[in-house]
Amino acid sequence: MDKLRVAIVGAGMLGSRHARVFHEQPDTEVGAVVDFNPARSTVAQQVGAPFYEDLNMALAHEKIDAVAVATPDHLHRDPVIAAIQAGKHVFVEKPLAISAAEAREMAAASAAAKVTVMVNYSQRFVTDHQWIKQTIESGLIGKPRMIISVKFDTISVPTGMIRSWSAQTSPIYFMSSHDLDLTFWFLGARPVQVFAHETRGTLDEQGIPVHDGLNALIQCEGGVSTNFHASWIHPNTYPRVADGYMQIIGTEGAIMYNNRSRSAEWFNTKGGQEIKFSGPHTADEVGGKITGAFTDSVRHFVSCILDKREPQTSPQRTLMVTEAQAAVIESLRTRQPVMIG
Ligand SMILES: NC(=O)c1ccc[n+]([C@@H]2O[C@H](COP(=O)([O-])OP(=O)(O)OC[C@H]3O[C@@H](n4cnc5c(N)ncnc54)[C@H](O)[C@@H]3O)[C@@H](O)[C@H]2O)c1
Repeated sequence: MDKLRVAIVGAGMLGSRHARVFHEQPDTEVGAVVDFNPARSTVAQQVGAPFYEDLNMALAHEKIDAVAVATPDHLHRDPVIAAIQAGKHVFVEKPLAISAAEAREMAAASAAAKVTVMVNYSQRFVTDHQWIKQTIESGLIGKPRMIISVKFDTISVPTGMIRSWSAQTSPIYFMSSHDLDLTFWFLGARPVQVFAHETRGTLDEQGIPVHDGLNALIQCEGGVSTNFHASWIHPNTYPRVADGYMQIIGTEGAIMYNNRSRSAEWFNTKGGQEIKFSGPHTADEVGGKITGAFTDSVRHFVSCILDKREPQTSPQRTLMVTEAQAAVIESLRTRQPVMIG
């Protein structure tokens, strides 16, 4: 069978990873790299693919089966809809969108089309998170009642790494997408109500009009209370650009997971244990190839195309994540609780 030919749209930090992974997999290849910044043509050169500044030109001139979208958070809608309308499969970065209306439009287009569309919620493929999911489902901590997720980035992220568009997104979109997706996936429950608080000033003073961080309380079906913290003003001396931890509290025990040490502890009424995880995490170099959850997410996308299956993280199945994120922004604006759906 011919290799799946993929056009990469947005060849920045994540798009260059997309290009490498689709280039390295045995059954996929990069058919084009698209970025409106001509300086990004180096990414095309690295994988021996033609470079375009416009997706429609790439689709008109190259044989393309799928489109991988890694444009900034607020610019996913146009390339996703264009690709679906052109009959291409789509692999799109998180967050799907920064508005519930755009996410619903993409989910509807995806449901109507005979193509495979998947949001890259790659953290579901991290073995540590799969252990947490299995441990919750085994009943070790009873019924989950509360989940707390904390994420923090150094200030280099909004002021350097994504300086050109950090004020057009929010930590709830850029940083908490995976935490929201993991939480609803762990619980098998939908979010129903949101209340959020923000703090701001540090980034405003640097000419970047966006909050420094936020806390969001999200009530899920069945009365489970979840709590998301995301902030991006840690000093650049902090040893990691991004870090965080998570705690799941159940009726008979709790699980604590630490991102940095990749360790989890669980306790229940009979005892407890500490677990240390090893092996590739999200995108580690192994034998000259990118290995880990990101590659496994791409493998899931390719297998869903071949088997004509709906991905675990299709826009339809994960729409609740964007709906909850948009409700957080609405709660910050109105200073009121916001119902979802
Ligand atoms: N899966 C993950 O864990 C993960 C991690 C980091 C970032 N991301 C997501 O990946 C996406 C990209 O982030 P990044 O850090 O690579 O951003 P980036 O700023 O490094 O790169 C974005 C690129 O898109 C290009 N671009 C913008 N609009 C375009 C358009 N209409 N057509 C073609 N090219 C266009 C820009 O020129 C730039 O090269 C974001 O949505 C981000 O949230 C995901």
